[in-house]
Order: sequence, then structure tokens, then C-alpha cells
Amino acid sequence: MALSRRLQIASVLKVSNRYLATTTPSSNPPPQSPPSSKPTTPPPQATSPPSQAATPAAKPKKTKFGPLKDEDRIFTNLYGRRDWHLKGAIALGDWYKTKEIVLKGSNWIIDEMKKSGLRGRGGAGFPSGLKWSFMNKPSDGRPKYLVINADEGEPGTCKDREIMRHDPHKLLEGCLIAGKAMGARAAYIYIRGEFYNEGSNVQVAIQEAYKAGLIGKNACGTGYDFDIYMHRGAGAYICGEETALIESLEGKQGKPRLKPPFPADIGLFGCPTTVTNVETVAVAPTICRRGGEWFASFGRERNHGTKLFCISGHVNKPVTVEEEMSIPLRELIERHAGGVVGGWDNLLAIIPGGSSVPLLPKHICDDVMMDFDALVAVQSGLGTAAVIVMNKSTDVIKAIARLSLFYKHESCGQCTPCREGTGWLAKMMYRFVDGNARPEEIDMIWELSKQIEGHTICALGDAAAWPVQGLIRHFRPEMERRMKEYQENTPSKKAVSRQPAH
Ligand SMILES: Cc1cc2nc3c(=O)[nH]c(=O)nc-3n(C[C@H](O)[C@H](O)[C@H](O)COP(=O)(O)O)c2cc1C
Ligand code: SF4
Repeated sequence: MALSRRLQIASVLKVSNRYLATTTPSSNPPPQSPPSSKPTTPPPQATSPPSQAATPAAKPKKTKFGPLKDEDRIFTNLYGRRDWHLKGAIALGDWYKTKEIVLKGSNWIIDEMKKSGLRGRGGAGFPSGLKWSFMNKPSDGRPKYLVINADEGEPGTCKDREIMRHDPHKLLEGCLIAGKAMGARAAYIYIRGEFYNEGSNVQVAIQEAYKAGLIGKNACGTGYDFDIYMHRGAGAYICGEETALIESLEGKQGKPRLKPPFPADIGLFGCPTTVTNVETVAVAPTICRRGGEWFASFGRERNHGTKLFCISGHVNKPVTVEEEMSIPLRELIERHAGGVVGGWDNLLAIIPGGSSVPLLPKHICDDVMMDFDALVAVQSGLGTAAVIVMNKSTDVIKAIARLSLFYKHESCGQCTPCREGTGWLAKMMYRFVDGNARPEEIDMIWELSKQIEGHTICALGDAAAWPVQGLIRHFRPEMERRMKEYQENTPSKKAVSRQPAH
């Protein structure tokens, strides 16, 4: 590797380490990737309501979250019971007053997004209004692009595909509004290749919108020219990382870029770009129509809005459902997913935000709320809000070992801690499944995970480390029990277990 390249990497790693060290306790997942040139954790919303003392008639603090009323649902065709084509979408309220919204201009749209308190739904939870405002700067002649992240590769996550399959016009209208807010010339929807039906529906919806004059030249009769293109990926998890996605969109291998420069400065085709999640963009039209304050009336402070939750695993009725942010995890599962198989007392653990976040044992699940801050406070994260439920029939060590294997497979191999570390994690975890290890090796794998976390170009390294850390944090006695059992049952293999892992 050329020295200059090495120095470049070293300087970036220093930045990212500082970022991790100063903004998040090492045990708490930081945002997946800082989406702008300002690497900070989500700050409190600039537009959040002033403190109660400053408000003359302060509203009483909300203490109950959920269930969401039907009239407050944004995704009214989530289950595909109605027509998803343009006619059906208009009947359900899409493309209503879009011209007026676009004509209100960039600052107005960004202000509404800030007022709404919306935080990115792709996993990082960065405030969307602030992120979009990074693009709203005087033009230097280069076109700007909006890129929609429709890769949805996070295990357990199945929300964006429902939007694209059953509500594609909500996404397209969102693209137009977000595009106007950023001054973008065009939007690229980067969709995971396996989503054949979803991609087909999105493409048909794009054609319908062009035909109706809603996008393209003079979109909605506003004088604003805005194109939307769909691009199919080939199904690599790493292509969901925003800079790898940009590389892939440019026709190169999907490998994350060093940051800075951030995409808002140099993104797609070298132009200012914002990459944002399908759900984030699809809620924008309703926020603009009903007002940012309406959206902010849901959920706790800093955790506002409604949210799609994907509930899978050992539940009676796996489901993707829109609910109020901050709803208690137990209520979410019992109300919408028919409860845990075998009853709540049969619960072992839950991964609350997609495979990348640490699992939580039952006693924490009993009363934790489903929002960014509540889950960080218990050393996990909301991530993509993909709730993976494991009851007592689960071999929890094997479940986490399987995730380690996934991250090993998906590592792009650019950085040593991730390329080598994910392989080591998987190897050791599978020995732990059998109990073929010494208890001291639990400390070794913990240390290994800490050497990966925060020392890589992108957050896939962290994502590989956190599930293992969660397992050790909450299930160490079970890991040790299994090792003891192995030793007792297979005395002849004692010598093998004493060998260092490699
Ligand atoms: C390994 C990896 C995979 C990711 N996959 C996705 C994905 O499939 N979809 C997504 O929206 N964001 C994904 N992200 C997060 C994106 O990098 C980015 O933060 C997100 O698209 C920003 O959108 P938002 O601001 O709307 O949340 C991934 C990040 C990493 C590190
Ligand atoms: S952390 Fe892993 S996936 Fe991300 S750039 Fe490094 S090697 Fe590639």
C-alpha cells in the first residue's frame, strides 16, 4: 500500500476513534455512519420545544406512548390491501398539495423536517432536517443528488420493501420533496437486487408519475425539473453503507470510502449527495402536509414520530407495523405480534434493532421503551427497529455465532481489524457453541471485539463486534456452563480446548 494512502487511512481512523471516544461510551453503539461532513452524534433537535420553564402554558409531559390511532398512520397501504398504482395512491391522499409544498421552497421544507424531530430511519438516527440542510448551500455549479438507500440488507429488517411494494408513490413524492429541499437535480433509488417485485412496482410507479407530470421537467407544474432513476444492486450487505452504495452506483466494487470528504461535499459522480433511507423519505410528504408539530407529538423528546417496526422470530404473528415511537417493547409484541411463543415468561432475549445491535435479556425487555435513547441507555440500539424475538428454545450462543458468520461473509476486506477480526470472531464463536474453549477465552473474544470496534473505515466492524459483546454482557454464565459441560463430557478433548484459538 502506498505510504500516502496509509497516512490517509491513519488520519481518518484517528478521526473516527476520536469521534467514538468523545461522543459515545464504548459500550453504546454510535450512529452507523456520520452522514455529513460534521461527524457528531445526533444532537438534541435545534428546534425542540424550549424547556417547560420558558413556556408559559407548558403541556403536561406525555407518559403513555402507543397504540397509534388509525387516523395517524402514514403508511395506509402497508399490507397491500388497496391499489398501489397512482390512482389508488391519490385516493389514499398521496400527491395531495404537492405543488404547494414544493413552491413553499427549500427552507420551509427543511424547517418542517427540523420541527418534526425526524431522525433517520436507516439505522444511524441522525436528525434528518439537519442532514438535509447540509446540502442547502449556494451552488458551485455541480449538480446535487439525492440517493435513496433501498438496500435493506440488515438481517431481521423488512420495512422498506413493504413501502416499495405497496406504497411506492409515497416514496416518489418524498423524493420530490426531499430533492427540492436539497436543490437536487435527480434522485437515484438504489434497490437491493433480490427485491424483484418491489423494484418492478417502483419502476411502474416512476413511469406513472412521469406520465402524470408529477416528476420530470416542470414537476407538478412548479417549474422545478427533477428526475428519478431506479438502480438495482446485487445484494451485498456492505452496499447499504452509504459510501459503498455510492461506489456501487458508479459501477465500481461496493467498498466504503474514507471520510472525509463526506458525501454532502463529494458524493455521487463527485457531486454533493445525500444518501437517505426509504422510510425517512417516504414520511416527508405527510410531515409537510400535517405539519412538523403533528409528527413531533408522537414519542418522547428527541425520539419523535411514528415508526415501522418489523417483529420476527419466536412470536405468534410476525409482522411489520407502524406504531408510535417510545412504545414499550412488551406492548409492541403483545399487541401486534400475538405475543411470544409460549408466553412472555418463555422469553429468553430480544435483539431490538436488527442484527447489528446487542441483544437484551428478558428482565430488560420487561419494561424498556422502543426509541433511540431508551435503547442506548440499556447498551443496545434502535437501529432499523427490527425486533428479533428469541424464546427459551433458542441456543443463544449459536444464534450469535450465526451472526458472526454473516459479518465475516459480508466484510469487504479493506481494513485489517474487520477482515481478520470477523473471521476470528466467527471461529471462536462456533467453538463456544460446543463449549470447546476455556473460560479465559471469553475475555479474549471481548478484547478482540474491542479491537475491532471503532478501528475500521465503516461501521460494519462495530456491527460485528456488538452482538458478541451483548452475548457476553448478558449470557456469560451460560457460556461458562457450556464449557464446563464440554470438559466433563469429553475429558479426552481437554488438551484441544487448551490450545489457543486460531
Ligand atoms: C454495513 C452497513 C450497512 C447498511 N445498510 C443500510 C441499508 O440497507 N439501508 C439503509 O437505509 N441504511 C443502511 N446503512 C446506513 C447508511 O450508511 C446510512 O447511514 C443511511 O442510509 C442514512 O439514511 P438515514 O439518514 O435516512 O437514516 C448501513 C450502514 C452500514 C455500516
Ligand atoms: S469495516 Fe469491514 S466492511 Fe467496512 S470498510 Fe472496513 S473491511 Fe470493509
